[in-house]
Amino acid sequence: MTDRSYRFTHAVTRAPAPSIVRGLRAVDTGTPDLGRMQQDHADYIAALRATGAEVIELAPLADYPDSVFVEDTALCLPEGAVIMRPGAPSRAGEPAKMAPVLRTLYGEVLEIAGPGTIEGGDILVTEREILVGRSARTDAAGIAELAGLVARWGYRLREVAVPAGVLHFKTDCSLLDAGTILATPRLAASGCFDGYRVIHTAEGEEAAANTIRFNDLVLMPAGFPKTAARLAEAGYAVREIGNSECAKLDGGMSCLSLRFTPKG
Ligand code: GLY
Repeated sequence: MTDRSYRFTHAVTRAPAPSIVRGLRAVDTGTPDLGRMQQDHADYIAALRATGAEVIELAPLADYPDSVFVEDTALCLPEGAVIMRPGAPSRAGEPAKMAPVLRTLYGEVLEIAGPGTIEGGDILVTEREILVGRSARTDAAGIAELAGLVARWGYRLREVAVPAGVLHFKTDCSLLDAGTILATPRLAASGCFDGYRVIHTAEGEEAAANTIRFNDLVLMPAGFPKTAARLAEAGYAVREIGNSECAKLDGGMSCLSLRFTPKG
């Protein structure tokens, strides 16, 4: 089995803009503090760099309050990238800002043309398949178009359901290694990870499910000690990153970067 789903040479991030205070959120739990978010973002980038990766930091986009969440703009595979088509109208212009960056790194950059919609937060790439959650942002037509595009690179895509009230599929899960998933019990109960080893988030710590395995580290949001202990006991090198401000906008570790190893 390969390790291409969690070993990467590159990441792309985008600095949060002051307009982040107008970012989308399911429930208003307070205005995000830009200064604190910038500090957490710097810690996040430092952790990615500590693994040896090249991190490309993009400038803030004031016109797009949620643009710090770059993951939703593209799917990056070794063979090429696919530019997404967000389901949130206020985010529809973000992929066009990411496409030129990815074209400098990849020989092949494809695009979801629509009419369907799909966001990167609903896509989990494992060693054996691409899981795509159908959500309020990602519809059947978007999933079907992505399946058609990635078939040329030999990928098998499987549609799964996102629990009601959950923003994205990866809000509730993340890849820890080639055969292991961290997931909330509510998502794992659907059976979508049958055949994988599943580590559950601790009770009351469902918001810890959105981590990223990035080379030798697992970056996870700070403040979830029971889940952090489970991961450490399972042998993962955990790095906790402050996420209080992104969490106010339903964002987490995966949302903040595109992670990839372009074949060139
Ligand atoms: N606030 C992130 C999103 O709703 O896309």
